[in-house]
This record gives sequence, structure tokens and C-alpha cells, in this order.
Amino acid sequence: MIWPFAKKKRFNPRDIAPDGLFDAHSHLLWGLDDGPSDRAGTIEILDGLHALGYAQVAATPHRNPRMFPLHELRKIETAIEDVAGERGDLGPEIVAGGEIMFDDSFIDDLENGSLPRLGAGSTYLVEFGAHPGAIPNAFEETVFLLQARDIAIVIAHGERHYDLQQDQRRVDLLRKGGAIIQIDLMSLIGGYGREAMKTAWLLLENGSADLVSTDLHSAAHMDKIAESLGELAEWDEAELVRLASTNPRLILAGDQWEIERHE
Ligand SMILES: [Fe+2]
Repeated sequence: MIWPFAKKKRFNPRDIAPDGLFDAHSHLLWGLDDGPSDRAGTIEILDGLHALGYAQVAATPHRNPRMFPLHELRKIETAIEDVAGERGDLGPEIVAGGEIMFDDSFIDDLENGSLPRLGAGSTYLVEFGAHPGAIPNAFEETVFLLQARDIAIVIAHGERHYDLQQDQRRVDLLRKGGAIIQIDLMSLIGGYGREAMKTAWLLLENGSADLVSTDLHSAAHMDKIAESLGELAEWDEAELVRLASTNPRLILAGDQWEIERHE
């Protein structure tokens, strides 16, 4: 007999993205921010990502001195070496990064080399506060000037920022200046509320999204990540490959200007 409560067949990203999936934004390392509190939590996330078909993941702990202690990049690298050493060939590969809260010291910190880069290139993952006006009007110009110096800005979870939810022309301007727009996967299924969900799908539909990431803080949300990937695949398999495999792979490899973009 057919078990009446059998789960819907689980979507397998490997069938669609042969290179595997790539995650440029996660809080998988323990004890650094609001990610897992212990090492076992980190291993659990890695196991979950592996099962979903992730080949590489960036550990991007929050860099937000108002909320969390500032960590030396070396501390992040040491934690990565610790778990990577135990796992050997078992994926996903972990690369270092950080999610930088934009503030008045951003440019100074960037110039003095204290900001964590995302992957192998001159790329920085930047987030803003949730309040209206958190993205300064001059930020478009900042992004453009940095691009001229070969420095790329990835805007973390663009769909969750009030300023971009209210005015998507700003997304266009930022992208014209070279900004790369990242969407959180769980936004696609309402994980961050209705406005974020609406904006995420609008950005996808008008081609303004450049990559999708897990932004995972614990393994508890792994099923929701799987569900979100399934929704994305159902919407457009080619876009799933571009957003969850090709583009994050290029960014993490340091080829951030080679990503496939809809203009
Ligand atoms: Fe994050």
C-alpha cells in the first residue's frame, strides 16, 4: 500500500546543478556570532548542506561591533581548519568570509584591511540595519567608486532591507554601479515575513537577483532551505543553477565580475 502520509519526493539539486550548489552567506561556525553555540552545531549544518548537494560554503560571521565581539580573521580561519581537518574530503568545502554591518567606519576599515573578504577575490558581503534610511543615499556612489578599484560589494539579503523593499529603483542603481544582490533562500517561502517574500520574488522575476544563499544560523532550518530550493527549481531550473551554483561559485573563486547577470 502507499503510505498515506509519505512525504513529497525530496527535490535533489544534484539532478539540476552538476557542479553542486555554492553558498556565499552562512553563520555555520560556532561561538562567533548568533550561529551555533557549539562545534556539534557546526558539524550538523555541514552534514545538512552536504546532503542538499552543497559543494562549497562561505562562513560569514557577523561583523557588527554593536552586537558581537570583533574577531580576527585568523580566528575564523582556525575554526575552519579545525572542522575541515576532521571532515577530510567530506564536503562542503568551507571558505572564509564575513557579513559586514555597514557603518561610518566602513571605508576606513576597508582601507586598513581589517574587513573580511568574501572568498578569494576583492569582494565584501555587506548588510544594513532594518530601519528606514539604513542604506545611505550616497551608497550607490560608494559602490561605483569601489568597483572602479576592482572591489565588489555583495548586498546581503537585499529583499529584507526596508529601503529596497520600498524603492526597487535603488536596486537598479546599485546594480548599475556594480553591486551584486544576494537573496536569502528562506525569504522565498516567507521565512522573513510577507514584505521580504514579496520583494524576493519581484527581484527574481525582474532579473535583479544575482545569487541566493542559505544565511543559515543552525541546522534546524535545513528543511526550509530544501523547500526554498524546491520552490526556486519549480519556478525556473536554469535560474536555480545561475543563482545557487554558477554565480556564488564564481564569487567565492574570486571571479566576481564574471557572474551571469540580467541587465
Ligand atoms: Fe547573515
